[in-house]
Amino acid sequence: MRLKGKVALVTGGTRGLGRSIAEAYAAEGASVMVAGRGGDGHPSPVDGVADQVAFHAADVRDAASVDALMAATVARFGGLDIVVANAGVSIPGPVSALTPEQWTDVVTTNLTGVFHCVRSAVPYLEHGDGGRVITMSSVLGSRAVAGAAAYCATKAAVEAFTRSVALELAPRGITVNCLAPGFIDEGMGRALRQNEAVWERYRGKLALGRMGSADEVARAAVFLAAEDSSYVNGHVLEVNGGLAW
Ligand SMILES: NC(=O)c1ccc[n+]([C@@H]2O[C@H](COP(=O)([O-])OP(=O)(O)OC[C@H]3O[C@@H](n4cnc5c(N)ncnc54)[C@H](OP(=O)(O)O)[C@@H]3O)[C@@H](O)[C@H]2O)c1
Repeated sequence: MRLKGKVALVTGGTRGLGRSIAEAYAAEGASVMVAGRGGDGHPSPVDGVADQVAFHAADVRDAASVDALMAATVARFGGLDIVVANAGVSIPGPVSALTPEQWTDVVTTNLTGVFHCVRSAVPYLEHGDGGRVITMSSVLGSRAVAGAAAYCATKAAVEAFTRSVALELAPRGITVNCLAPGFIDEGMGRALRQNEAVWERYRGKLALGRMGSADEVARAAVFLAAEDSSYVNGHVLEVNGGLAW
C-alpha cells in the first residue's frame, strides 16, 4: 500500500501500459482517474475497485479538455498527487511519406499533450504533500531507427522537457521523472512484434532475450510515484532489459 491516500491521474489509462499503471496504483491504495478519448460512461478498467477508479474522457491535444480533466479529478477524489502523462500515439513511416497532418497529430499528442497535462496539474500538485509527475518516453527517444522520425523526435523532446521542468518545479515540492520503456509485449510494442518484417530488426537487440511485460513497466511507475523515489528528480528511467543497439 505504498500509495495509500494518494490521488493519481493516468492519461491513456484505458488500455495498454497506462491501464497496467492505473491497476498497479489502485492495488497500492491510490484513487485513480483514468483518461482517454473514449465516450462518456467508459467502464472502469480496474476490476474489483470500482469506487477507487474513475474515468473521464479527455483529449490531451486540447488544453481546455485537459483543464477539465484536472478539475474533474480533484472534484471526484479531493486532490491530486500524481500525474502520469502516458497518452501517446505512433504513426510509423518514412519522413517523405508522412503527411503534415500525421506529423502534427504525433507532435500534438506526444509532446504538446504532455505540456498541457503538466501545465494544468501544477496548481493542484503544489498544494499536496510532494507532487509527482511521470512522463512517458520510449527506447526510441534516445536510439535512432528509420521509419519513426515523428515518434522518435517527440520522445526525445519529452525527455528534454522532463529534465527542464524538473528544475522548475523542484522548489514547489514537485518531482518530475520520465519512464522510457523498451519493447513491451502490450499496446504499441505488441503491435510492432506482430509485424514480422519490422520486428526482425529489433528481436536481436533484446539483451534479456524477451520483451518486457506491462507489469514490469507498471512496477517502475509505482517506484517513481512512491516515497521510495523521493530524492529522484529529472531522471529518465529506462525499463528495457538492456539493449544491444
Ligand atoms: N507499448 C510499448 O512497447 C511502449 C514502449 C515505449 C513507450 N511506450 C509509450 O507508452 C505510452 C503508452 O503506450 P501503449 O503501448 O500503452 O499505447 P496504446 O495501447 O496505444 O494506448 C494509448 C493510450 O493513449 C490514449 N490516447 C491516445 N491519444 C490520446 C489523446 N489525444 N488524448 C487522450 N488519450 C489518448 C488511448 O486512448 P484513446 O485512443 O481512447 O484516446 C490509450 O488509452 C505511450 O506514450 C507510448 O509511446 C510504449
